[in-house]
Amino acid sequence: MNTDKIEHLISQMTLTEKLGQMSMLAASLVVTGPVSPRDPVMLVREGRVGGILNTWGYDEIREAQRVALEETRLKIPLYFSVDVLHGHRTIYPIPLAEACAFDRDLWLRTAAEAADEATRDGIHMTFAPMLDVCRDPRWGRICECAGEDAYVNAEYARAKVTGFQNTNDHPHRRLAGVAKHFVAYGAVTAGRDYAEVDISRRALHEVYLPPFKAAVEAGVAGIMPSFTDIAGIAMSAHRGLLHDLLRVKWGFIGVIVSDYNAIGELIPHGVAQDIVEAAVLALKAGIDIDMMSGAYEQGLPIALERGLVTMQEIDTAVRRILQMKSAMGLFEYPLRGLQQEIPGPDTIPAHRASARDAARRSLVLIKNEDGLLPLSNDVRRIAVIGPLADAQSEMMGPWCMAGDEQQAISILQGLRESLRAQDIAHVPGANIDGPADLAGIASAVAAAQASDMVVLCLGENRQHTGEAASRTLPRPFNCQMELAKAVFETGKPVLLVLATSRPWILPDWMAAGPRAILIALFGGTEAGRAIGDVVAGDYNPTGRLCISWPYRTGQIPVHYGMRSTGRPHDPNNGFSTSFLDAPIGPRWGFGDGLSYSQFELGEAQVSKPVISAEETVDVSIEIANTGAHSGEATIFMFTHDPVALATRPLLELKDFRKAVLAPGQRTLATFQLNANQFRYPDFNMEPRLDNGRINIFIGTSARRIDQKCVTIDVLQPPVVNDDAA
Ligand code: GLC
Repeated sequence: MNTDKIEHLISQMTLTEKLGQMSMLAASLVVTGPVSPRDPVMLVREGRVGGILNTWGYDEIREAQRVALEETRLKIPLYFSVDVLHGHRTIYPIPLAEACAFDRDLWLRTAAEAADEATRDGIHMTFAPMLDVCRDPRWGRICECAGEDAYVNAEYARAKVTGFQNTNDHPHRRLAGVAKHFVAYGAVTAGRDYAEVDISRRALHEVYLPPFKAAVEAGVAGIMPSFTDIAGIAMSAHRGLLHDLLRVKWGFIGVIVSDYNAIGELIPHGVAQDIVEAAVLALKAGIDIDMMSGAYEQGLPIALERGLVTMQEIDTAVRRILQMKSAMGLFEYPLRGLQQEIPGPDTIPAHRASARDAARRSLVLIKNEDGLLPLSNDVRRIAVIGPLADAQSEMMGPWCMAGDEQQAISILQGLRESLRAQDIAHVPGANIDGPADLAGIASAVAAAQASDMVVLCLGENRQHTGEAASRTLPRPFNCQMELAKAVFETGKPVLLVLATSRPWILPDWMAAGPRAILIALFGGTEAGRAIGDVVAGDYNPTGRLCISWPYRTGQIPVHYGMRSTGRPHDPNNGFSTSFLDAPIGPRWGFGDGLSYSQFELGEAQVSKPVISAEETVDVSIEIANTGAHSGEATIFMFTHDPVALATRPLLELKDFRKAVLAPGQRTLATFQLNANQFRYPDFNMEPRLDNGRINIFIGTSARRIDQKCVTIDVLQPPVVNDDAA
């Protein structure tokens, strides 16, 4: 629909119809917030709803759209939106797992496949990607983001927006993305969901905003502000960030859709007296769509009468929504993409195969003493123990909406399929939570004693993760620790599989006990087969941690990008930053992960020793596979600016890539580094480039021992001041 038609449509609309387009209501296929008794389809009939979330499927979509097209005055089509975060019916690894693949092509591919399935089910928009950088495992929603690093989340943003919006051939197979939750929701105080956020302007500009800027640059269709505040300014009323920065400075032209009830929640935030004030604040901040709260429908008519808002401001929001619907093709094809056949892992086998590949790439082998893995043929009898061994549902993780857990492959099934020569006994031994099961533990011990090795599968269930699932002590549940202790005491070699949704604070004995540890954050429909592939050696693990695993809760936040401080940690100097009761670093850090191959790095080199602004330098390093297995190395390029106006993080990730190498093969990995990547926010949060030395670290993790260093100097021509001339 062209601009003139949109303007003509707006000119015909009553205030009720305009506010209806600005209102989104939830259906009930899934519940993602406080349930409302209002029936969305009935309100559609009255022209009071313009979009519906949490519904999909041939019959549901057809009926709701029929009502909009046949039983309303202006016959404006609805849009339908769902949280397609890591797959629609074929479920891929949760974002925190998939980020460990450090594979942009994979991230894009799974988004495109999810868009293909979701649009076949009549969905037009997804509330994804979630881009809230997080360094706090106490927060249940850490599972929804791409980890602790701003650059990884920014690259993830680009890949996901492109995968959702611009990859599938047919436009009706493309999904409008909504990047969320703008901004810094991952910095909630104490990891407590919905809590206040109090961060510095520098942290806001260096860590939390960049992923959203990347999403805007990639053309994301929508932005969702977070429930939270920043230093007391509720995001749903934050005109400075939503209008001045997002729309004016960044040039964002899409829609801003509130989070669930969030506009109405400006009242408990203490910034709005009543629903009228809440609606005014949100509209003035630039929110176009009110999800669930009813604030726009109830509050804006009064605000208009009182002269607190103008019809032009309302029309601006309505215009953006109609433009979005037009861009989706809904006026011409209101049932765009919808098909009767149910899409999913069993009707689109290529997606199931893709999900297996994604799950394999997302696994992180973090310990492998004496090469327990890949499994030796000498191992004949295996005891698969633990509450996550035969747990199809848990493999799906949170936000798996239309995913059918009956289609998921458990770890037990995956092992049985991969290890056909072995005898596999299965004993749960414990529940996921609750009291210890002494009889279960006894059975598990007996099974372990009768085996050559144990695969111990521990983890969380879906209620322990995602939204409103903060834990003060994110660690194994007591009943699982009792089981683990008993199994370790048998002395049998143990592979510990951690099927969780977040980093766990492991007791030291639980990290020391197993010969091998596989971090298997919820891997989705094909999780079990991926684990079987790695255990059997059919896949050489390539995953690396995108999030640090602290030793203690008291360390949080701990991540690779800390600043040096004036008393950098020195084990030989008591007056240096440290803890009395824990190391300063995490148990496992960003970039950690093992392969069945061994890789060796040559020396790092730069193509020239000095660069000026806008110039690019090649940074190269040779990497060789000195092991006996073909494998994929993950190579990271970090920088450190040792002297700047503001202390710079000890390491800043600037690029990453894979190198696939056969045994004995070597290759030259070459990165491009532009001087603009050395810019950092100055005192006014404007990008600044200094002259001076930059240290470049290239390696297979964020650990100095795994890196090679080379330096480069930035030298810009002196700025000639015209006045002086
Ligand atoms: C939830 C979440 C948000 C989600 C929305 C719709 O409360 O905060 O991430 O997109 O509601 O389900």
